[in-house]
Amino acid sequence: MKKPAFEKNLFLLGMGAFLVFSVGAILTTIIPPLVDHTFYQSPYPVHTYTASELNGMKIYQANGCVYCHTQQIRNLKEDQVRFGWRLVEAPVSQSWEYVNDRWHFLGTKRTGPDLARVGGKYASSWHWAHFKDPRNMGEKYQTQNNRFQEASLMPNFYFLSDGQIKDLTAYLQTLGRNMNWRKGQSGEYLNDYEN
Ligand code: HEC
Repeated sequence: MKKPAFEKNLFLLGMGAFLVFSVGAILTTIIPPLVDHTFYQSPYPVHTYTASELNGMKIYQANGCVYCHTQQIRNLKEDQVRFGWRLVEAPVSQSWEYVNDRWHFLGTKRTGPDLARVGGKYASSWHWAHFKDPRNMGEKYQTQNNRFQEASLMPNFYFLSDGQIKDLTAYLQTLGRNMNWRKGQSGEYLNDYEN
């Protein structure tokens, strides 16, 4: 069968592919904010990162934390229960929470737990100990074949300096804190959790 000229002409083929791609791009990125003016507006004040927290973000990026950790609570009961705090379920992530992020670490690979709500879950000293030696965290319990099961499977980051860990932890402690979501049993807000 004779091929139509369109397929033989590389320029026309490229233009065709570009046009098809543009339809998707225009429909998903350009049209929505024109139709809905609240699209990129945050209904709440969003935390502005300090210099130390921004440096922590860079350390997070440089050390590939995003390869194992996501930062998005999906609209799934499992996520909300798994990443909650003391039986308070974690709220689903909202777009406005990310408006001040210049690097986005939403991630796709969930080797480790999601970190979108980790801010305030642990004291900063916990994070320091965890980065230095994750194997030494939490309770150790004996397994069937008489070997101890170490608490955290995460690789260690002992090579980070104390200053780097301080910045990285400062950044981690901001995650999920734009939203005042931890409520006590009588409904009171517990925004200053573990520290
Ligand atoms: C190779 C994969 C991997 C990488 C890379 C990694 N982690 Fe982890 N991380 C894990 C796993 C797995 C756990 C859960 C350990 C467990 O509970 O046994 C974890 C746990 C954590 C926790 C505790 C979360 C919670 O809710 O208990 C924090 C915080 C954390 N990681 C931060 C980081 C940061 C920051 C980096 C980058 C410096 C990083 N991780 C890099 C795999 C990874």
